[in-house]
Amino acid sequence: MNLFEVYPLWDIEPVRGLDTTLWDKDGEVYTDLYGGHAVISVGHSHPHYVKMLSEQLERLGFYSNAVQNSLQKDLAERLGRICGYEDYKLFLCNSGAEANENALKVASFHTGKAKVLAFRKAFHGRTSGAVAATDNPKIQAPFNATENIAFAPLNDLDAVEAELRKGDFAAVIIEGIQGVAGIYEPTAEFLHGLRRLCDLYGCMLILDEIQSGYGRTGRFFAHQHHEVRADIVTMAKGMGNGFPIGGIIISPEIKASFGMLGTTFGGNHLACTAALAVLDIIENEHLIENAARIGDYFESMLKEDKAVKEYRGKGLMIGLELNEEFIRLRNRLLFEKHFFTGAAGPHVIRLLPSLTISQETAGRFIDAWQSLTE
Ligand SMILES: Cc1ncc(COP(=O)(O)O)c(C=O)c1O
Repeated sequence: MNLFEVYPLWDIEPVRGLDTTLWDKDGEVYTDLYGGHAVISVGHSHPHYVKMLSEQLERLGFYSNAVQNSLQKDLAERLGRICGYEDYKLFLCNSGAEANENALKVASFHTGKAKVLAFRKAFHGRTSGAVAATDNPKIQAPFNATENIAFAPLNDLDAVEAELRKGDFAAVIIEGIQGVAGIYEPTAEFLHGLRRLCDLYGCMLILDEIQSGYGRTGRFFAHQHHEVRADIVTMAKGMGNGFPIGGIIISPEIKASFGMLGTTFGGNHLACTAALAVLDIIENEHLIENAARIGDYFESMLKEDKAVKEYRGKGLMIGLELNEEFIRLRNRLLFEKHFFTGAAGPHVIRLLPSLTISQETAGRFIDAWQSLTE
C-alpha cells in the first residue's frame, strides 16, 4: 500500500528535535521557526514534557470517558486559571477542526438556531461544519453543508449586522488572528462590535484560537489583547506540543446534557498529561512574556526590511508579506540556510516558532534573512 497523496512534501525528513533545533536523517541541522505549524509551543523534546509523558505512559496510557479521570479535572482547573476564563467549562477533543465542529454544534444546540456567520479568508478546519465555515470552495466537497453559512468581510460591522438581521444565526465564528489567510487581525473596535451584535441578535461569539492561542501572541488568547469575552473559545495546536489534543471552553450560561458531545480519544490520559506539561513549562519559563519580547525584537528588525512589503501579526504569530522580487526567499531560507518557516500563499512567510525561542536564535535567523536579501 502507498500513501494517499494529499500533501506536497519537502524532501527533508526530521528525525530528532531539541527545542528549536531539528536534525534530519542524514544528520543535517535545521532551525525551526515554523514550530511544526504553530504546534510546538514549548520546544521539541522538552525534558519536563518527555518525563511527564513517559511516566504517564508507564502508569496508564488510556481509558475511556466512561470513568473518572482526574487529569481532565486538573487540566480544566489549571487552564481556567491561566487563561482567565475560570468560570467556563472545558470539553476535550483531539484536533482543531473537531474543536470548531463541537463549538458550532454547542452554539446550535443552545440557541436552537442553524446558521453561522464566518469571515472572508477564514480557515476553521476540514471536517464538515468547520470546512463549511472556511472561505475556500476548493476544499469543500458537495457533501459539506455550506447552505447554513454566510460570510462577511473582516472588520466590517455593517456587513455583519446586515447578515445577522436576516435571523436564525446560532454563532459568529472568528479567528483570534487569521492565520492561513496570511496573518490578518480583527481590530479591537470590530471585536467589541461583534460582542454587541451577538448579544443583540442572540447568537454565540466563538473565538477560534487554534493557531493564535496558547500564549503565541503575548497574551494567552489573541482576543485578550482587546479585553473581549467570547461565549466559546476553541484551541488545539500548541495545547499538546505535538500530542494531539483540542479543547473548547464554554460559557456557564450554556448548559451541558449527557450525550450532547462525546469522543472516544478526547481527553485521554496521555493527551491531558501533555497539556498539563505544556502549562507547567509556559508558567515556569514565563513563555508568554518571552513570546511578546521576541515578537517585538522580530518586528524591530524586520518591519523596515527591504524584502518586506508588510509586517503583520503579534508576538510569535508573524506574517511577512514579501515584495515580488523576494518570493523565493522561503525556499532559500530552508535549502541554503537551513531555517524552517511557514507560508500563506507565495507572497507571505509565516513565522510560528516555539515560544521558547531565544533572542540569539531569532538573531541568527535575521542574519540569514539579511544575507539573502541585501
Ligand atoms: C485557525 C485554525 N482553525 C482550525 C484549524 C484546524 O486545525 P486541525 O488541523 O487541527 O484540524 C487550523 C489549522 O491550521 C487553524 O489554523
